Amino acid sequence: VHPRRVFSGVQPTGNLHLGNYLGAVKRFVQMQEEWDCEKLYCMVDLHALTINPDPAELTRATRELAAAFIACGLDPAKSMLFNQSRVSAHAELAWVFNCVARVGWVNRMTQFKEKAGKNREAASVGLYAYPVLMAADILAYRATHVPVGEDQKQHLELTRDIAIKFNNDYGRPNHFPEVEPLIEGAATRVMSLRDGSKKMSKSDASDMSRINLTDDADAIAQKIRKARTDPEPLPESIEGLAERPEAKNLVGIYAALADLTPAGVLAEWGGKPFSEFKPALADLSVAMLAPIAGRMRELLADIPEIDAVLEKGAERAAAIAAPVMAETYEAVGL
Ligand code: ADP
Ligand code: NA
Repeated sequence: VHPRRVFSGVQPTGNLHLGNYLGAVKRFVQMQEEWDCEKLYCMVDLHALTINPDPAELTRATRELAAAFIACGLDPAKSMLFNQSRVSAHAELAWVFNCVARVGWVNRMTQFKEKAGKNREAASVGLYAYPVLMAADILAYRATHVPVGEDQKQHLELTRDIAIKFNNDYGRPNHFPEVEPLIEGAATRVMSLRDGSKKMSKSDASDMSRINLTDDADAIAQKIRKARTDPEPLPESIEGLAERPEAKNLVGIYAALADLTPAGVLAEWGGKPFSEFKPALADLSVAMLAPIAGRMRELLADIPEIDAVLEKGAERAAAIAAPVMAETYEAVGL
């Protein structure tokens, strides 16, 4: 019933890292040519507000994220790039969904528990309601497919539950689609370079735990050289990665950067020590990331142009969301 439409968002919270690139943005770029449908990629600035960033820093990080998207290969003529706060349907639909979603559903979200930490009472209500806003981000466009990293799986299940309950409660079987997550590739969950049990994250206190898109060649090489590993050489086949999270992580990163499978990487590197593999991984990372950082710097030299791209994207996105919002208000009696 619903035409294919792709939506995804990234928070403008600074420190866009290799996990965001391989798990999300690189996938968006691949889909740009492969998926012949409307594609919306959003700087989710309202989500960033949940952690109360400094206002000037939020503005700066939002433009930097837009520059990163374009530098990675997203073409504003092919994909709509825009700020969440510039399309009012996100916030409006989120309120409707706050009244559809149940407290028990939101209480189960593990990301809230991780992000809120020990003192949950002190977390913002926004941080708690974040997954409901995420459902609104997607369903305001009746998007059908959402490319994301593994960590977003639970939020997308909540999005489906909200859509199904809305459709049932209001007797509109096809009002909102049941969204499909696209969690694909060799790097759907890139782990911290310091701790193989934690995902690479913007919010990790240690900068050595992540490779940022804007890191220079020396920083990248140093972080990979110091990445935690066990002392064994790389295994000959992927079964040998099962109990070796750090090795699995570095092989996955290599595979995603080189557009190989992990088995393909081990065909070349199996039996070799990390002292040989790590410099090769560092060279590959620098070769892929340095041009992106260079293009970001060029793009950020022309802020009015970035703002113009985002405004244009917001106009196009708002035109898709407006009838969805109108039909939704009509369905609920507003
Ligand atoms: P973060 O989790 O770093 O705060 P976001 O919540 O803005 O970043 O996530 C943006 C996208 O990047 C999402 O699709 C998310 O699933 C993906 N992502 C984030 N961290 C990782 C990771 N370590 N590995 C793979 N994908 C990730
Ligand atoms: Na995330």
